[in-house]
Amino acid sequence: MKVLLLGSGGREHALAWKLSEEGHDLICAPGNPGIAELAETRSIPLNDRKALLDLANEMQPELIVIGPEDPLIAGLADMFREHGFSVFGPGQDAARLEGSKAFSKDMMKRAGVPTADYQSFSDPVAAKEFIGAKYASGRQVVVKASGAALGKGAIVCETLAEADEAVDMMLVRMELGEAGRTVVIEDRLIGREFSLLTLVSDEGIFSLPVAQDHKALRDGNEGPNTGGMGTVSPCGISAGLVQETEEMVVKPILASLRELGISYRGVLFSGLLVEAGTPYCLEYNVRFGDPETQSVMLRLGAGLGAALKACADGAPIPEIPVLENTVVTVVLASEGYPGDYEKGRRITVGDLPEGVELFHAGTSLRDGDLVTNGGRVLGVSAVGKSLAEARELAYRGAHLVRFEGAQYRRDLGEMVF
Ligand code: GLY
Repeated sequence: MKVLLLGSGGREHALAWKLSEEGHDLICAPGNPGIAELAETRSIPLNDRKALLDLANEMQPELIVIGPEDPLIAGLADMFREHGFSVFGPGQDAARLEGSKAFSKDMMKRAGVPTADYQSFSDPVAAKEFIGAKYASGRQVVVKASGAALGKGAIVCETLAEADEAVDMMLVRMELGEAGRTVVIEDRLIGREFSLLTLVSDEGIFSLPVAQDHKALRDGNEGPNTGGMGTVSPCGISAGLVQETEEMVVKPILASLRELGISYRGVLFSGLLVEAGTPYCLEYNVRFGDPETQSVMLRLGAGLGAALKACADGAPIPEIPVLENTVVTVVLASEGYPGDYEKGRRITVGDLPEGVELFHAGTSLRDGDLVTNGGRVLGVSAVGKSLAEARELAYRGAHLVRFEGAQYRRDLGEMVF
């Protein structure tokens, strides 16, 4: 099948890896140096709609897969659909689930999805009053930018001072720009977290293997939140709990969207936390997780392309076999990430052992050299028969990838959280 894949991150590299393994004929825009080893790439930015439409008209893909959230939130899927293309990715109205946390929380409430109590604010004084009352009653809060903030817009606050500072950062200093103009303040829940990626068509759903992300920068879940520093799959979540999550979190929100006349054809990412046996929805995203996808793709048998195509066409989704393995993905990030960082540092990669895949996220080529070009630079994903084996292999791989200032967590899969 001829597939046009849009995006340039580790998630898209993992999708490209799987789709090309299945023998699909792939073009990617804009892609990255890793994807360029698997597919033809065209350096078209994802906000250049005319050039993207010209590319689609030229190549006549049977399927267009839109990777990142920003173009989905901006309505790129709608544009391609209006021109008759088969598109994997929700339209702009459904993408509000990720584009506006305030909308998303309101939809959860409407659908009866278990989620933390919350309130939305644009006024810092009112927000701080609300927060003050929470800490006075012994609760902690999470302050979330309502808009999409590259996975960095949620701040877990142990103290009142931290929560006040998060409000100042978003609502007063506007450090997250438009994304932080409104904040959602919700009760902090304590429990085990996991990510569920569910393929969605008009004719059903199919959940991929669950993964656990490690969002904090440093070992022991210390340091600032990031887009994700590594994932492990599987992660101790039972099949029963996944099914319960589909019933309590996935299906109700899709039904509520349908009530509003909104159909969903793409992947729904549910960010979850289990408290007292109940799966609470922390957030929905409208695209594959990054770096969840890097681990999840290595756990699938053949059939991803057919499943994505079925979703895009609103048809029943054929099952994808899940492999009996364990995958650990270690993210190597630039020095300074998630704050400011330098680009252009030279990357060297040694001979990676069998069972290890290297997924490019923020890399580029300069005079033939691979150099850093983003905060999260590369993901090293390793397959093992057990968690111990996958971890050992992933860290052996990570050690063979070098660039000045590279930082990565050493404790993936060690903690239960
Ligand atoms: N890894 C979290 C996310 O993709 O949002």
